[in-house]
Amino acid sequence: MVGCVIVHDGEVVGEGCHERVGGPHAEVRAIDGVPGGDIEGATVYVTLEPCTHYGRTPPCVDLLLQHKPARVVIAMEDPNPKVSGRGVAALREGGIHVVVGVLAEEAAALNEVYLHHMRTGRPFVTAKCAMSLDGKIATHTGHSRWVTGEVARRRVHEMRNEVDAILVGSRTLMLDDPSLTTRLDGPDVRDPVRVILDADEYLDANRKVFNLDSAAPTWVAVCDDREYGFAEQTIHVPRGPGGVDMAGLMDELGKREIASLLIEGGGTTIASAFEAGIVDKVSFFIAPKIVGGHEAVTPVEGRGVATMDEAIQLENMQVTPLGEDLLIEAKVRHP
Ligand SMILES: NC(=O)c1ccc[n+]([C@@H]2O[C@H](COP(=O)([O-])OP(=O)(O)OC[C@H]3O[C@@H](n4cnc5c(N)ncnc54)[C@H](OP(=O)(O)O)[C@@H]3O)[C@@H](O)[C@H]2O)c1
Ligand SMILES: [Zn+2]
Repeated sequence: MVGCVIVHDGEVVGEGCHERVGGPHAEVRAIDGVPGGDIEGATVYVTLEPCTHYGRTPPCVDLLLQHKPARVVIAMEDPNPKVSGRGVAALREGGIHVVVGVLAEEAAALNEVYLHHMRTGRPFVTAKCAMSLDGKIATHTGHSRWVTGEVARRRVHEMRNEVDAILVGSRTLMLDDPSLTTRLDGPDVRDPVRVILDADEYLDANRKVFNLDSAAPTWVAVCDDREYGFAEQTIHVPRGPGGVDMAGLMDELGKREIASLLIEGGGTTIASAFEAGIVDKVSFFIAPKIVGGHEAVTPVEGRGVATMDEAIQLENMQVTPLGEDLLIEAKVRHP
């Protein structure tokens, strides 16, 4: 997430942001918005160091050097080794006055997903569920449609629209047969990649995710050398506790440029994600309902910890009312 504002003679003359991977960078869009592209002598404010490499788009540093602003103010250096420090150096060599580190912390918060992906090579992982007030994500029969109301479910689609991939366990796929697509109106709506865990050959080709009209592929993660003809990709990962080794899978997804992942359940899958230490954030929806039943699935199954001091600690908890439901979000405190 990069934003750029161009100021000339005390007035904002151009603004732009990078909306998605492969789309024009913030600097390009901001300059495009200025009549005649004339920013000579202006100040360019940008939340991330301008790029110097040919990625999906040409380098923004070259564009800036051509347009000759007097000054570029950068919130933070790009941790991407292909860029880091080089953008700043190239601008300075070109005679542009460069300031780095203004509101750096705020810029890092804006970009936590990208920074996490750059630092770890893995996606930033959000565990999402919808539960009743008594903590059930389905009834004892496995029925779960729907736990929350329309407003909350719309928010889930907004979340899907923001992530690179969604992951579910094989039982959720077989029981609920979800499409895992983004159902929103608008020009910028797209489906994330769908990733299904299948350690023990439980899936069948009739499920919706294997028969969709979607620009995004469906991938299946397995523990042996099986190939799934009906999935766009079969990802081979060693066996870990509970099935597919979750940390290994995160490495595989990271290599495939998945920078953000939403785990949509079920409880067994979310439990093994927590056990593997790969969850960075939780987004739990709570509906004003009581479901009951000791056999009804909860958001985090597995064995759980033995004592309270071993519990996974959350921080920065935020509560948002959505229609009749609540959305509780928090960061996982990594030791
Ligand atoms: N309300 C909600 O937000 C929500 C969301 C999703 C699901 N649900 C409900 O949750 C229920 C299903 O949850 P569940 O806990 O029974 O199953 P689940 O998490 O959907 O699937 C678990 C299965 O995934 C496979 N798997 C492969 N690798 C795994 C790994 N590393 N960790 C965990 N599982 C792995 C295993 O089967 P194999 O060994 O056969 O591969 C495992 O049995 C359904 O009733 C569904 O309706 C509710
Ligand atoms: Zn750029």
